[in-house]
Amino acid sequence: MDNSRKRPTEQIYSDYTQEDFEVWKLLYNRQMNFLTDKVADEFIEAIDQVGFNSEEIPNFEKVNQRLDVCTGWKIKTVPNIADADVFFENLANKTFTATCWLRSMDEIDYLEEPDMFHDVFAHTPLLSNEAYTDFFQAMGAIALNVIDDPAKVKMLQRLYWFTIEFGLIQRGDDLKIYGAGIISSKGESEHALSDASEKRTYDVEQIMAHDFRTDIIQDTYYVIESFDELTSSLPRIKELVA
Ligand SMILES: [Fe+2]
Repeated sequence: MDNSRKRPTEQIYSDYTQEDFEVWKLLYNRQMNFLTDKVADEFIEAIDQVGFNSEEIPNFEKVNQRLDVCTGWKIKTVPNIADADVFFENLANKTFTATCWLRSMDEIDYLEEPDMFHDVFAHTPLLSNEAYTDFFQAMGAIALNVIDDPAKVKMLQRLYWFTIEFGLIQRGDDLKIYGAGIISSKGESEHALSDASEKRTYDVEQIMAHDFRTDIIQDTYYVIESFDELTSSLPRIKELVA
């Protein structure tokens, strides 16, 4: 593994190497093929909205122009995963902090920290969806109000984890994926939809008391009926951290 690799603080498109383009293409094609019948329709529609394809590593400037038309959201480069206060403050301001570097070919299936395949491929498309972003922005605003209270921040991080990162959505008799942590991982997508993991009904009180681990595949997922269910739960979320 190349530990000396740069973690840029801004996207300089001409710095991407041939290997970066190959990594993007391989991961994009593999996950899109795999996810077609497993991911929420909203994600597939959103991929079109943001204009992603296998040939081009997304250019943040162009992505932001497209997001601006849909929801007024944008992505902003960070070198590594942002601290909670920075992360939530950006959300409250309709901004998602994202890395702009890609894993190398020899770590294609395993990565210790999120790269842009996770942050951009998996997180960014749904920033074009109004109901999804209404919830996401409100979560940031609620967190910002309690940012000096670590216990309350923890509750909101759990909410983030079990929705935006690892959420499932019910579609008729089927479960579909909308969480970015699942979308960017083939192993997690298989596991999340299999009988090997527990599925629970979306319940903010339960979620906000549910500790999680970041270093393992999840054993429990929460299932929403629709993105509107997320926004409808906001008053209860506010009460729980009041
Ligand atoms: Fe993420």
